Amino acid sequence: MAPIIELRNVTKYFGSGRDQVTAVDAISLDIEAGEIVCLVGESGCGKSTTGRMVVGLLPPSEGQILYQGQDISAMERADYQDYRRAVQIIHQDPYASLNPTQTVRQMITAPLLRHQTQRGGPTANGSGRRGKRRDAERRAAELLEIVDLTPVADFLDKYPHQLSGGQRQRVSVARALTVEPKFIVADEAVSMVDVSIRVSLLNMLYRLKDEFDVTFLFITHDLALAKYFAWEGRITVMYLGRIVEEGPTPRLITDSRHPYTQALLGAVPEADPELARKKVHVELRSAEIPSLLNLPAGCTFHPRCPYFVPGQCDARVPALESIADGGTVACPVRKAESIQLV
Ligand SMILES: Nc1ncnc2c1ncn2[C@@H]1O[C@H](COP(=O)(O)OP(=O)(O)O)[C@@H](O)[C@H]1O
Ligand code: SF4
Ligand SMILES: [Mg+2]
Repeated sequence: MAPIIELRNVTKYFGSGRDQVTAVDAISLDIEAGEIVCLVGESGCGKSTTGRMVVGLLPPSEGQILYQGQDISAMERADYQDYRRAVQIIHQDPYASLNPTQTVRQMITAPLLRHQTQRGGPTANGSGRRGKRRDAERRAAELLEIVDLTPVADFLDKYPHQLSGGQRQRVSVARALTVEPKFIVADEAVSMVDVSIRVSLLNMLYRLKDEFDVTFLFITHDLALAKYFAWEGRITVMYLGRIVEEGPTPRLITDSRHPYTQALLGAVPEADPELARKKVHVELRSAEIPSLLNLPAGCTFHPRCPYFVPGQCDARVPALESIADGGTVACPVRKAESIQLV
């Protein structure tokens, strides 16, 4: 079967002339149904741009995005509508994406009613308008329970400003579930939430994977979160618009090859003192992230990389090459160097 989402050499430019930047540079990624894939990298490396292209909010400048094997830019109208419904995004800031003038009840029942109308067919309570509304109300209550907003009656008539950040994010998730999505891009979905409730939000998202057969693209700048959420999945590391390393999470965490991945891992606090002692810290030559307006030649990590080989690293853009333990890495110098980081 075709992957549920496939990116083929996807590039995104913003601006024009001297101000043009390449926010995403020829990235390719296959995501199979049921997989959890994390996109990780520092702020500004193109994660959100990638996520927005995957859900159809932004068109790629070059390359193709395929949903279930079909190029989304060449879809018939009905297939495109199907794809836009099936592929949803949860944003970092739920306050910005929730309508401040609507109650939770209105926010959840409105898309349910629209979705029912589109799908047609009789409802459980008869096909009249009242029956449809009763069905939507019942489903809204179920969805709030699924996202742990209980007792449901306490939340139905609340406005966004009456909810905490975590509760608002749960409402966003419930709203995304109204259209029975198959694929969810969670873009920094727990980043703005209090640390104390991050884990319960992550666990709730994780549960949806099995209960609703949802495939996740989980976007975060925090490798520790990626490790937690995608231990059974894959991590893709981006740097300045390019993928630099990718692989099954356990391999990427314990035996990463790209110096940038190693630097990210070195920055993750380790609670276990035994593991902390064993950790290798990659000393970067520079802490500064280059501007997209003036990218270094060759491997764009070279001004910061401690393993920089002049004449090689700054001459060619390294291709992603397969490595034996799973995944790919774009660093010919270090691809065979295994460092046990954890
Ligand atoms: N609509 C836009 N117009 C111009 N530049 C943009 C736009 N969206 C993003 N960018 C630029 O593209 C780069 C990648 O941004 P983004 O995808 O948001 O990164 P991330 O989510 O990894 O922090 C940044 O330099 C950002 O300023
Ligand atoms: S290609 Fe060279 S500069 Fe780039 S990460 Fe590898 S060693 Fe460092
Ligand atoms: Mg972002």
